[in-house]
Amino acid sequence: MLLTTASARRVVFIGGKGGVGKTSVASALALAQAQAGRRVLLVSTDPAHNLGHLWQCTIGAGPRALATGLDAIEIDPEATVAAHLAQVGDALRRLMPSHLAGEVDKHLALSQDAPGMHEAALLERIAELVHDGPERYDLLVFDTAPSGHTARLMALPEMLTAWTEGLLQRQERSERFGAALRNLGRDDGVGARALGGEAPSATPADRDQAIRSLLHRRRHRFEHLRATLADPARTAFFIVLAAERLPVLETIELHAQLQRTGIEVAGLLVNKRAPRDAGEFLAARHAQEAVHLATLRDALPTLPLQEVPLLGADVVGAAALAAFAGLLGEAATPAARTD
Ligand SMILES: Nc1ncnc2c1ncn2[C@@H]1O[C@H](COP(=O)(O)OP(=O)(O)O)[C@@H](O)[C@H]1O
Ligand SMILES: [Mg+2]
Repeated sequence: MLLTTASARRVVFIGGKGGVGKTSVASALALAQAQAGRRVLLVSTDPAHNLGHLWQCTIGAGPRALATGLDAIEIDPEATVAAHLAQVGDALRRLMPSHLAGEVDKHLALSQDAPGMHEAALLERIAELVHDGPERYDLLVFDTAPSGHTARLMALPEMLTAWTEGLLQRQERSERFGAALRNLGRDDGVGARALGGEAPSATPADRDQAIRSLLHRRRHRFEHLRATLADPARTAFFIVLAAERLPVLETIELHAQLQRTGIEVAGLLVNKRAPRDAGEFLAARHAQEAVHLATLRDALPTLPLQEVPLLGADVVGAAALAAFAGLLGEAATPAARTD
């Protein structure tokens, strides 16, 4: 289910609680797709990165080759915020009159720890990857942070688009106002230069135009991300979970949250499923898990669901990941479809 669905998409998100196997599933899926001949970029957005551990190498902010056709990135939230603010600072300093540079720095220093800053910076980076990625990659696989975080992130493009929209409207109003003033001859950068005054770095008209194109570019990025996330032909979102009480309840909640933001869940992956035929203890576990899975099925009767067995050893290294990918291709439990 997972592999066949992913092979027809450009973007795959893997979500779920910590420790359920998101990184293992995302890595195995990315590797299988690369082995099938697609160019794949695997991106970890979870601040608790463990891609590097699984692949037994150091992965950073720039693409690192893991296998033929497979590159990986770990987005570092602190560095992303710093880079994001540096870029905003650059733009602001260029656009604002020079005597306000101190204010710009103060504003940026405060923004560093503002609520939502990490998420906004992370989203900016995801939007950039989703926008530019298709030039070099056929598939982007996002290994995301635990549930609540991901759902909030998915709701952000909407909010940030609205916010950017508001800024644009305000900016357009002030531009019209500025133009009216200029027509009255009160605010004329060219005139100031002609009079031998110090040439300003940007005239008010230049500034308006620069701010506008910055905001337009940003809005375009978020709209593109929003459209990509909401398009089931391009994007698939999978939830990985364990067949336990809380993970099942959280999965039902995550599914509802995603649906509220207009994102279809493509399927559920029940990982670490205890075997029925490996002794009494595990058989009892298997039966207990079946009770929790029944709750899941009641709540989400039509979603494709796939079980992945509990393994004797951790999934570490390319060979183990390739073997794990083999398990992901196994027959899915058919969903009780009503349509
Ligand atoms: N089916 C499985 N059987 C046994 N161990 C597994 C299985 N899937 C994942 N693991 C192990 O569980 C741990 C957590 O997996 P990981 O993919 O890092 O989870 P997450 O990214 O969701 O936190 C790792 O040690 C991994 O090797
Ligand atoms: Mg992980």
